[in-house]
Amino acid sequence: MTSTHTPTDLELAAAAAVPSADELAGAWALQPHPNPASEAERAARLERLGFGVDFTDHMAHATWTVGDGWHNKVIEPYGPLSLDPAGAVLHYGQEVFEGLKAYRHTDGSVWTFRPTYNAARLNHSNRRLAIPELPHDDFVASIVGLVRADAQWVPDAPGSSLYLRPFIFASEAFLGVRASTSYEYLVIASPSGPYFQHGFQPINVWVEETYHRAGPGGMGDVKTGGNYAASLLPKVAAHGGGYDEVLFLDAATNTNLDELGGMNVFIVMADGSLKTPRLTGNILPGGTRASIIQLLREQGRSVSEETISLRWLLDAISAGDVAEMFACGTAAVVTAIGALTGEGFHVDIPENTVTRGIYDELTAIQLGEAEDRFGWLYRLA
Ligand code: COI
Repeated sequence: MTSTHTPTDLELAAAAAVPSADELAGAWALQPHPNPASEAERAARLERLGFGVDFTDHMAHATWTVGDGWHNKVIEPYGPLSLDPAGAVLHYGQEVFEGLKAYRHTDGSVWTFRPTYNAARLNHSNRRLAIPELPHDDFVASIVGLVRADAQWVPDAPGSSLYLRPFIFASEAFLGVRASTSYEYLVIASPSGPYFQHGFQPINVWVEETYHRAGPGGMGDVKTGGNYAASLLPKVAAHGGGYDEVLFLDAATNTNLDELGGMNVFIVMADGSLKTPRLTGNILPGGTRASIIQLLREQGRSVSEETISLRWLLDAISAGDVAEMFACGTAAVVTAIGALTGEGFHVDIPENTVTRGIYDELTAIQLGEAEDRFGWLYRLA
């Protein structure tokens, strides 16, 4: 197959091989939960799959200090943390996080998708927030250890997965504004169904022209809580108005599409080509975004990463030049956008054939139902 794909910086950083799960297993010592959920409790929680509401028996945990670097790497019982009220993260938000999933294949094996992309992005975020980097091998070993300890929590219902949430926060107790001298890294796991309760149903999006999630030189392209906190007030207002999500515009000109706060956005043109906002430094370089671009280009479709103004988009929709729009991310996978509303406009986008196709293609690879031709899958258990 001819490849038209030019790897992004993150894809290049993610390219270094990591050892297999069998080689990494045990690197993070297991401290078994003395009182794990009973089979009946686990079955009940796996039955009512929501998103991010139930958690497994264990969590991965390591600590960083100036003298010792990352140490105390363990898989320990899931439970509350003890944190000094002066802990730096509580005051200045020095924290980063990731999101990836473990999938159960029909033969019972458990896999994850592009974990080194997440490892590379975590370090990209770490650098921006002056947090020490975590070696890729440690990132993947923590996931192997946790998923192997809690393998029975990986659901197999259609559309389900074990959502993995790695995160790092500043733990030093002090009130001055400077980088912390100690950090905690954790991975928690949540058996999950679809991110949107209504499943693949198209979402209703509010286009936000008053508030922004990130500005030039800020932290828009890293995964840190502050960006999500900035999105909450407009989200609350949008939900009040009956909208599922908010589409943010760029803070510098308030004219161009950025992202949906928790998801990247794509436009499918009537001629079958696609457009997505280029990575300006204010947009999260989504792993799902990167994978979709690669899949579509391999299919021979044109995918252009460009500056997309809201004005151009609304004109193109009225002219019939836009066929579909969708949002994508690890949690939401690929979700059709059924309507866009903002101050003084409302447009419906009823089609979602290409969107459905890309959802099917991506999830078929993740679930082991289609050939993993790019080597994206990593066997965990
Ligand atoms: C993810 O897609 O994994 C995220 O972290 C975004 C959040 C909306 C759940």
